[in-house]
Amino acid sequence: MRFPKVCLEFLEHVRRLVQHVHSKTGSPVDVGEQMFLTILNVITSMMWGGTLKGDDRTKIGGEFKQVVSEMTALIGAPNVSDFFPSLARFDIQGIKKKIHVRFLRFDRIFDSMIEQCLKMEQGKEESHDSKDFLQLLLKLKDEENSKVPFTMNHLKALLMDMVVGGTETTSNTVEWGIAELMNNPETIRKAQEKLDRVAGKDKNVEESHLPQLHYLQSVMKEVLRLHPALPLLIPHCPSSSCTVGGYFIPKGARVFVNVWAIHRDPSIWVNPTEFNPDRFFNGKFDFSGNDFKYFPFGSGRRICAGIAMAERMVMYESATLLHLFEWNMPDSAKLNLDEKFGIGLKNNPVKGAGGSIGGAANLKRQKGSLGGNSSVPYRKNMEMTN
Ligand code: HEM
Repeated sequence: MRFPKVCLEFLEHVRRLVQHVHSKTGSPVDVGEQMFLTILNVITSMMWGGTLKGDDRTKIGGEFKQVVSEMTALIGAPNVSDFFPSLARFDIQGIKKKIHVRFLRFDRIFDSMIEQCLKMEQGKEESHDSKDFLQLLLKLKDEENSKVPFTMNHLKALLMDMVVGGTETTSNTVEWGIAELMNNPETIRKAQEKLDRVAGKDKNVEESHLPQLHYLQSVMKEVLRLHPALPLLIPHCPSSSCTVGGYFIPKGARVFVNVWAIHRDPSIWVNPTEFNPDRFFNGKFDFSGNDFKYFPFGSGRRICAGIAMAERMVMYESATLLHLFEWNMPDSAKLNLDEKFGIGLKNNPVKGAGGSIGGAANLKRQKGSLGGNSSVPYRKNMEMTN
């Protein structure tokens, strides 16, 4: 499958992120929010970049951002119905009703995208031009001899999974990474040294450099060990009763896997609460989900569908921010990395709204400020204030 100009678009969105951070010289920057916007742009470019252009795309992007944020906050909000299923039909907190309203808004956006895409395709000869994800899915839907039914509802559900599952998880991971690194000056120095060696001191990081950035890969693994974006994965539900490790799990039970606790289990990890990327030295552990000591993307058939994309986005964006800017705390202060639990793990917003994927483990969202003069630097000074 070929996606149209995804790489170029991706670079363009990251470039815009850098410009934004740079333009904020001397004033606060909300790293999490900027990352969220960048990643949302990358994912929507991939989904319908070939269908929607210019002002239309900006307009839909803005509306989409709002619905995604509201949706992820609602999905993660603690819901009495989950703990007392007999009360579910009363929807005491009104969460189901609110989610339904957002579903309808998603549906309306998808309908208008699909209509536009179909109009574009009408009367066109079958071409070999690269297509966006939506165009490919519409083609798949029309294939009559397909053994697995693929309806319009399936198509919309897939688009929604990608956008809801891929945005905050990825942006929170980059944000936690920068925060952890800022509290560990030795680690940040080491990561920047390796970046200088691989990318060149006064050159941009390129996608082709990523496989050589072994230390940054260990940093990403360590960030996802301490702060798995979905600390309880996504709730699983067995289709038939079974026994696992001696425990009987009835059909239809809601199963939460506490990967957060496993990643901090002292019988598995030495000094589990310490941020130490070296524990992943030499490619130790991967994201395949085959080792139940470490599986931030889940495991088995329902493992994350976006691992390759997530890895690339987290690595490239972190590498770019670390290579271009100097990150440090004023007066050697430490960032507060407090967490708050829910389905998603994110930092506690200090200012502004920060819809988290759930009322999750949250660290304080910090504001960064760019110091120094406003000329484009090789590595600008970045400060975050508590
Ligand atoms: C650092 C970033 C990310 C993390 C940590 C992450 C983590 C996860 C986890 C833990 C699950 C549930 C697995 C399970 O329950 O066993 C999941 C599911 C999923 N993720 Fe991700 N994810 C990330 C980024 C992405 C991206 C970028 C996309 C796509 C654009 C994506 C698409 C999905 C989808 C579609 C599912 C549902 C898969 C299914 O139920 O079959 N994720 N992810």
